[in-house]
Amino acid sequence: MSTVLVTGGAGYIGAHTCKALAAAGHVPVVYDNLVYGHRDAVRWGPFEEGDIQDRARLDEVIARHAPSALIHFAAYAYVGESVTDPGKYYRNNVAGSLNLLETIRDHGIARMVFSSTCATYGMPDSIPIFEDAPQRPINAYGQSKLMVEQMMADFERAHGLRWVALRYFNASGADPDGEVGESHDPETHLIPLILDAAAGRRSAITVFGTDYDTPDGSCIRDYIHVTDLADAHVRALHGLEQGLQSGAFNLGNGTGYSVSEVIAAVERVTGLKVPVELGPRRPGDPARLVGSADRARQILGWQPRFAELDDIIRTAGAWHQKGAAN
Ligand SMILES: NC(=O)c1ccc[n+]([C@@H]2O[C@H](COP(=O)([O-])OP(=O)(O)OC[C@H]3O[C@@H](n4cnc5c(N)ncnc54)[C@H](O)[C@@H]3O)[C@@H](O)[C@H]2O)c1
Repeated sequence: MSTVLVTGGAGYIGAHTCKALAAAGHVPVVYDNLVYGHRDAVRWGPFEEGDIQDRARLDEVIARHAPSALIHFAAYAYVGESVTDPGKYYRNNVAGSLNLLETIRDHGIARMVFSSTCATYGMPDSIPIFEDAPQRPINAYGQSKLMVEQMMADFERAHGLRWVALRYFNASGADPDGEVGESHDPETHLIPLILDAAAGRRSAITVFGTDYDTPDGSCIRDYIHVTDLADAHVRALHGLEQGLQSGAFNLGNGTGYSVSEVIAAVERVTGLKVPVELGPRRPGDPARLVGSADRARQILGWQPRFAELDDIIRTAGAWHQKGAAN
């Protein structure tokens, strides 16, 4: 049992990970400025409100709780906004992470798990994407995450930090017990948007691009359940405790689904008709993003429980309905 500092633990993936950490006997101390997080999603350990850019507040919180490791989720994650306002992303995601890295170094915390992303790969040359594929991000969001990966490697060389970067594909679904789920504002993720359209809370879902080189012409993505992501964080943390070498792991199901397939799955699972609008391609959207998570399976012993899209949507739908009822 150990105390773990979880930045961004009031957010979507962070909250699910806190639940998994508590189930594994850890104490997750959530450090979140609530810019996008939810206070009521912090249910598995203490809450400390604060910004990762605030060194004095971090010092105080770390001195009080004496965590032995860091899991770092806190970041801005709106790709489109990162293109129009890159400074906001470099300041929060890069400068904020640098502040955090220097703080944990000074407190002698030498293990860290970081939320990276498939966006660090940019436009992939081949599918599935393996961890050693070139990292050529095409937006400031992906670039900011890649820079943090590089900073961690430098901090390892200079200060002995041991780190794991988990490169998630499309996080989706909700806690199967219904205790926490996805509530982004604004929401940009496909499954909650389709559920909103199905429930009449938005007029339609727009399919951006119907002429990609894919079987039905819409973009293909790899959807990975948030509870499976949470489990990988616990495994990465335990791995680091047991001498795992630093490195990056893709987290995806290795199966791609097109936007049209996801819409059809939502219709199948909910029994509701989804109003659809067809729109133009969005700049910078690759036709296919599907990852190989073989490395996480082999080295972390990770095995996603929610391999089926319908099961992922079922958990998301149950959470969505609960939100609608409140
Ligand atoms: N959701 C996905 O599909 C996905 C995919 C790849 C990577 N990621 C990464 O995973 C992480 C979590 O994503 P999420 O979907 O849970 O997002 P989220 O917005 O729900 O969670 C991020 C949390 O960080 C907090 N935060 C942001 N800036 C902060 C700051 N300066 N100080 C303290 N707290 C701050 C927010 O309040 C929020 O609670 C992010 O780093 C994101 O880039 C997400």
